[in-house]
Amino acid sequence: MISDDVAAAVDAIHAGQLVGMPTETVYGLAANACDAAAVLQVFAAKQRPHFDPLIVHVADADMANAYAQVSQQAQQLMRAFWPGPLTLVLPKTARVPDEVTSGLDTVAIRCPDHPMALALIRGAGLGIAAPSANLFGRISPTTAAHVAAQLGDKVALILDGGACRIGVESSVLALFDETKPAQLLRPGGLSAEDLSQVLGYVPEQVQLAEVEREHLALSAPGQLKSHYAPQMPMQLKQRSEPWIEDGDAAYLTWSQPISFACRASVCLSPAASVDEAASRLFAAMRELEASGAKCLYAEYVPEHGLGAAVNDRLRRAASLA
Ligand code: TXA
Ligand code: MG
Repeated sequence: MISDDVAAAVDAIHAGQLVGMPTETVYGLAANACDAAAVLQVFAAKQRPHFDPLIVHVADADMANAYAQVSQQAQQLMRAFWPGPLTLVLPKTARVPDEVTSGLDTVAIRCPDHPMALALIRGAGLGIAAPSANLFGRISPTTAAHVAAQLGDKVALILDGGACRIGVESSVLALFDETKPAQLLRPGGLSAEDLSQVLGYVPEQVQLAEVEREHLALSAPGQLKSHYAPQMPMQLKQRSEPWIEDGDAAYLTWSQPISFACRASVCLSPAASVDEAASRLFAAMRELEASGAKCLYAEYVPEHGLGAAVNDRLRRAASLA
């Protein structure tokens, strides 16, 4: 089940099956992006609503041309940040089935910075549609074992590429209208600071839910609120506020460990590094979820660099975003 056999994974993709795929951000649930039936299996396995479109993964910028209309600005961003944690939303080509894009005329496209993912895409010779390999609304996986725990019976095999280096999902940037400035749909593994170096401006951050409502005419606003949710109530605090001391609770702290008795606690980065906090976030949330604590207390991390993505995931986990 958990394997390092890329050739077997390529065969599974060609046969229309699903594969657990490591990337530098989180593990993906991979399928042939050009095979509508395989793509529908991805939605079914994740219990993901059909209005939430998938990312097509490519091996390089050249390959992106088959699936998206690549503007000059998009090319420039690809040169600067691919392979890497930047997903671009661009006008799609006819090659992308409607099942991938939920009927939108745009497609999200990215080139992952992981040797096994690139070998899988190159070996398959196709774009790979892959959402994060977790059940819909739950915490994203950063190890092969995480994928096995939630989706092990739905995949032909899981490629083991080790623990994900970055640990939060890619940044999603909308570039579908060249006449308008780019918009950040999801803060992620590429910091807004790095993006702005190439864009020349800090992209406006638009709530993904807002865009989805606008473009996909969602009937119930806030439907996608509780993403990355642990299976217990969660409460967030600023770092300047004191902890509520509760012996039955679990705690997720920034750089200072908890000094009172509690059910479980994880300190994300004793060295106070936002990159380290990002890489450890999802595994820490899974560990605290498994502790059996009746609730989870967490604190915001500094907002710079990948801290923005960490805080976004914390807010979503606590249903505040
Ligand atoms: O790091 C990542 O991006 C991981 C790894 C596996 O590559 N993938 C990932 O996929 O996080 P997923 O499906 O969990 O998140 C993709 C996000 C979704 O929130 C989706 O709504 C948005 O991208 N998206 C996809 N296509 C879109 C489109 N055409 N327009 C707007 N948003 C889109
Ligand atoms: Mg996801």
